[in-house]
Amino acid sequence: MQNCETYFFGNNTLPLVIESKKKITSRENFFSKLEKNREWVKKNLLRYGGILFRGFPLKGVDDFAESIKRIGLGVPIDYIGGDSPRIKIKEGVYTSTEAPPSFKIPLHNELSFVKYYPHHIYFFCEEPSLEGGATILGDARKIYQSINPEIRRKFQENGLKYVSHYYKKSFLIDLVNRLGKGHKRWDDVFETESKKDVEKKCIHHEFVYKWLKNDWLEVSQIRPAVTDHPETHEKIWFNQAQLYDFNKRLLGFGKYLGAKILYLRPHTRLHEVFYANGTKIDTKTMNHIHDVLDQETVFFSWQKGDLLILDNILSMHGRAPFKGKRRILTCMTNEI
Ligand SMILES: [Fe+2]
Repeated sequence: MQNCETYFFGNNTLPLVIESKKKITSRENFFSKLEKNREWVKKNLLRYGGILFRGFPLKGVDDFAESIKRIGLGVPIDYIGGDSPRIKIKEGVYTSTEAPPSFKIPLHNELSFVKYYPHHIYFFCEEPSLEGGATILGDARKIYQSINPEIRRKFQENGLKYVSHYYKKSFLIDLVNRLGKGHKRWDDVFETESKKDVEKKCIHHEFVYKWLKNDWLEVSQIRPAVTDHPETHEKIWFNQAQLYDFNKRLLGFGKYLGAKILYLRPHTRLHEVFYANGTKIDTKTMNHIHDVLDQETVFFSWQKGDLLILDNILSMHGRAPFKGKRRILTCMTNEI
């Protein structure tokens, strides 16, 4: 990219950082730079998995949405079936997560548990946190290589079954959410109040659905645990078992004990994950996956106005705990 400096943070090649050498003050200059360099961006995303644009004059949600439009990698999609609490800001743009600040979100590929997962995910920093709050990153190719071969074989051969339970009205869950947002309502997950529309969306995404008593909804789907990148054909660890498993390692001991009350009743279990034939995945296996994800995690600190683009298949992301305010926006796209 002309008049820009490219570098990495330390020895990590994720993300590739692009910084303007001459201070660009016009947003239009930046947008046309993105358009002109689309092929360069595509090539480097396939090589490194992620690109961070730093020091460009991007101000807020409209600049973020315009950048995504101009880079032209795909069309924004809704967060249907997503499990993270988010606020929709405008069509295709959401807050990255409203999960409690003390909660560490482990590495994951966005929506890897649904059929129509996004191929690219974008983040924009409106306000960095004063302490912590990095968007953590990981190379899903390296993670595939680092998983114990026997576990890898078992996941690959079996595939996974994801099960979720979503509520509509519940005094208990509303109380839990006031203590720390986490359990989504089905009208939030499917972005509609209409049960008929929920059903249509389930059919479209190939979710098996079941309405339960008191307006609860059970959704399940069987998905592969490993994929081949459609362009580079590299093997990728591509599943969300670590976020669907009820595990002390994920929740922390305090939250694990609290959530145990909900876990006692099958229909109030937010998420469960099994091998596709319905057998349980043992805790030792899940802990190994958490170990590999931790070992392959790279951190970078946000600066206001940063724009990050990730190939959502090659790269995983997550969030480190933080203190104070933090506002990161996100958008996901798929090829037309
Ligand atoms: Fe995510």
